[in-house]
Amino acid sequence: MSKTSAIGVFDSGLGGLTAVKELIRFLPNENIVYFGDTSRVPYGNRSKETITRYAMQDARFLQTKDIKILIAACGTVSSVAGNLGDEFHMPYTGVVNPTAYAAANTTKNGKIGVIGTTATINSSSYKHAIENMNSSLNVYQRDCPLFVPLVENGFIDKNDIVVRTVVQRYLQPLIDSGVDTLILGCTHYPILREAIADVMGDGVALIDSGRETARYAAKLIKENGLENPQQESGSCEYFVSDRVDGFSKVASLFLGNTFNQEVHQINIQHY
Ligand code: DGL
Repeated sequence: MSKTSAIGVFDSGLGGLTAVKELIRFLPNENIVYFGDTSRVPYGNRSKETITRYAMQDARFLQTKDIKILIAACGTVSSVAGNLGDEFHMPYTGVVNPTAYAAANTTKNGKIGVIGTTATINSSSYKHAIENMNSSLNVYQRDCPLFVPLVENGFIDKNDIVVRTVVQRYLQPLIDSGVDTLILGCTHYPILREAIADVMGDGVALIDSGRETARYAAKLIKENGLENPQQESGSCEYFVSDRVDGFSKVASLFLGNTFNQEVHQINIQHY
């Protein structure tokens, strides 16, 4: 591992690209290796044991790529798989702590909503993290299992009747609770940001787990003296565990620009 080694980022699918987008913005000269476990997405409705086994394989694959820091850009893995940094002996972050920290520092009325996959919400990971930071804060949680399939199938337009109906149905209880801050606790959800913002209304701050994690990763790299001294723009390498066609279209959505890079398919069962 050296300063020029890459940042390793993984997710169950393409949601982690919301963190990659922000990493490129915060750390333009760092190299990034991304792995999306597209053959096994979604993780969010699986057991803790299965999610942990998958996460270990994902991290083991990234470890073969000369990485200097590991990021689980997946709310589900971050919530249930424990501290992978101890296992892999390198700086590590999931998305829960950085995002909880940002939310705790944003709320004015002390009421924070959290939305995530079923595994994430059942673990109460964000709730525990927030309450550990400030026990006077109230946390209201809601799982939104239809959000990931909506995003992965390109249903993201806030004016689409299907999108609007699903978003309204899931978020109404949080609106009724009076939250002024809402954690988008799954890295897929920032893609639905406009629809979520529309339903929640202007008074509610949305906290993007991809962005907060990228911000924290930048800090972690600095603290560990691992900043890449190279001046030119860093490279990004992309790996998935299922077919590569179709990746570009959805990746463009997540990264917010036209995606025209090579994508490699690997067999994750080998790791
Ligand atoms: N992007 C993953 C997360 O942040 C969720 C998708 C899944 O269920 O695999 O939780």
